[in-house]
Amino acid sequence: MFAAVKPVDVASPEEMAALGERLGHALVAGDLVGLVGDLGAGKTVFVQGLARGLGVPAEAHVTSPTFTLVNDHVGGRLVLHHVDLYRLERAAELAELGLDELCAGDDVVAIEWCDRFPSVLAHGHLELRLERTSESGRRVYAAARGESACALLERWGAFSA
Ligand SMILES: Nc1ncnc2c1ncn2[C@@H]1O[C@H](COP(=O)(O)OP(=O)(O)OP(=O)(O)O)[C@@H](O)[C@H]1O
Ligand SMILES: [Mg+2]
Repeated sequence: MFAAVKPVDVASPEEMAALGERLGHALVAGDLVGLVGDLGAGKTVFVQGLARGLGVPAEAHVTSPTFTLVNDHVGGRLVLHHVDLYRLERAAELAELGLDELCAGDDVVAIEWCDRFPSVLAHGHLELRLERTSESGRRVYAAARGESACALLERWGAFSA
């Protein structure tokens, strides 16, 4: 099962976070979100908004987990695991991270640089590809693989216009 929608243009970090926040409202237990895009594309900004939409308390500062690989955020409607695979070197390390278990569980998992290890999300996810169009402009492409991701994309509705 696959679904894609027209890309959406955002003009500022605030708009990117607002897009993420709307997705945060639409998430249900077990949803997986993969983020793809160059350094500085806005993946972490998007996840900051997503955390806000889940109701993660503002004091739980959402930063790029590049050095820790996984940051867990509690206190929201659902637990959010924010993963960054940029510095992961070998697929074997995924097992050490316990990513399969996280992805099979009832929490929400958002993974930056998910395209580096495609096997992680083999069972379906909502993939967001962020492209830089100008200094502060970004284009966001969304594609859903699997039933729950397709349902999430539909609930999100951010792309319906
Ligand atoms: N429209 C926009 N959306 C998102 N970020 C933007 C936008 N315009 C400018 N920016 C800036 O771009 C940077 C995006 O940084 P961010 O950490 O979110 O990128 P990233 O994709 O997570 O990078 P990395 O791969 O290094 O983790 C921020 O400094 C942000 O202020
Ligand atoms: Mg980041």
